[in-house]
Amino acid sequence: MNILGIETSCDETAVGVVTDGTILHSNIIASQVNIHAQYGGVVPELASRQHIRDISATISTGLASAGMQLQDIDVVAVTYGPGLAGALITGLNSAKALSFSLDVPLIGVNHLEGHLYASWLTDSTMTPDNAPGFPLACLIASGGHTDLILMENHGIYKLVGRTRDDAAGEAFDKAARVLGLGFPGGPEIQKAAERYVGTDTLKLPRAWMKDTLDFSFSGVKTALLHMAQDREIYPSGTSNLDDDHISLLVSEMAFAFQEAVVDVMVVKLIEMAKQYKAKGILIGGGVAANSWLRHQILDKSGIPVLIPAPILCTDNGAMIAACAYYQYLRGEQYGLELDVNPSLPLG
Ligand code: KG4
Ligand code: ZN
Repeated sequence: MNILGIETSCDETAVGVVTDGTILHSNIIASQVNIHAQYGGVVPELASRQHIRDISATISTGLASAGMQLQDIDVVAVTYGPGLAGALITGLNSAKALSFSLDVPLIGVNHLEGHLYASWLTDSTMTPDNAPGFPLACLIASGGHTDLILMENHGIYKLVGRTRDDAAGEAFDKAARVLGLGFPGGPEIQKAAERYVGTDTLKLPRAWMKDTLDFSFSGVKTALLHMAQDREIYPSGTSNLDDDHISLLVSEMAFAFQEAVVDVMVVKLIEMAKQYKAKGILIGGGVAANSWLRHQILDKSGIPVLIPAPILCTDNGAMIAACAYYQYLRGEQYGLELDVNPSLPLG
């Protein structure tokens, strides 16, 4: 079954074609990063308008790079939440038009559930049903969410932990701004941290919050701000240090920040896996592209770990197509009256 997946929940217009939930044919992403970078964050109005410009060409390119035509598509899948309402509408309406004109089913996908299914697109010998089995202890860490979700089976989720303030990706983005790095902040913090070669690193506090699987990242963000102010890195342009010295300090602080955020996520995810006797660990969402997080979880988990290729961690249409396959199999049906739901929950 060939499924075309459309994703427009934030600042990526994305289309993917996937067969039977795991075989990836194409994954085309029209990124709006350059548009939003000058504002230091996503501007919803600009995102909505850019999706309208990009959606048709992205669908055509998604099909062409899969070597398919519209007639080869059996199901059209689309993110209908959570996300920015104005951004979601473009994807949803395009999907409705395709489904209506091709006379094929429409499947509405929860963006967060899509992030989970990206894990089985990297190695098509593994499917959710053969490896490593349920239940799975899942971390979704993105620009809007930091959730610990127990996946008990297809479509059966329990939210067991979440951030009480900033999402991990949001914290990375804000930290990058303090350190004078670009947008989005996650990849910039990672690059700066990889330049750090010292051992006696600066330390930032971790909010362990005993007896809960919830997170809090606002404290570490404020601690980084104070550290940057003490060292005259922030506000930028106030330091008497030369550029090389500033760059060294920035990379050390980026390392300390990345280490603090990843540390808490890894410890709580492993704790959750133990508590719920999970057969495996799964991570997804933009922050799962982080090399330090990937390294730490693989090193410390003690049970099988599923992580998508970095390009499938950040928002994409292939994960939406992958997820929709299992929704279709369990008989879910969506009509042309389907509306967007900006705060659609999972679990
Ligand atoms: O899943 P995603 O593409 O969009 C949302 O659903 O929010 O996640 C975007 C977030 C951004 O905050 C970005 O800074 C973060 O993921 N991110 C990273 C990395 N790549 C993207 N964070 C840390 N390290 C990375 N390599
Ligand atoms: Zn996302």
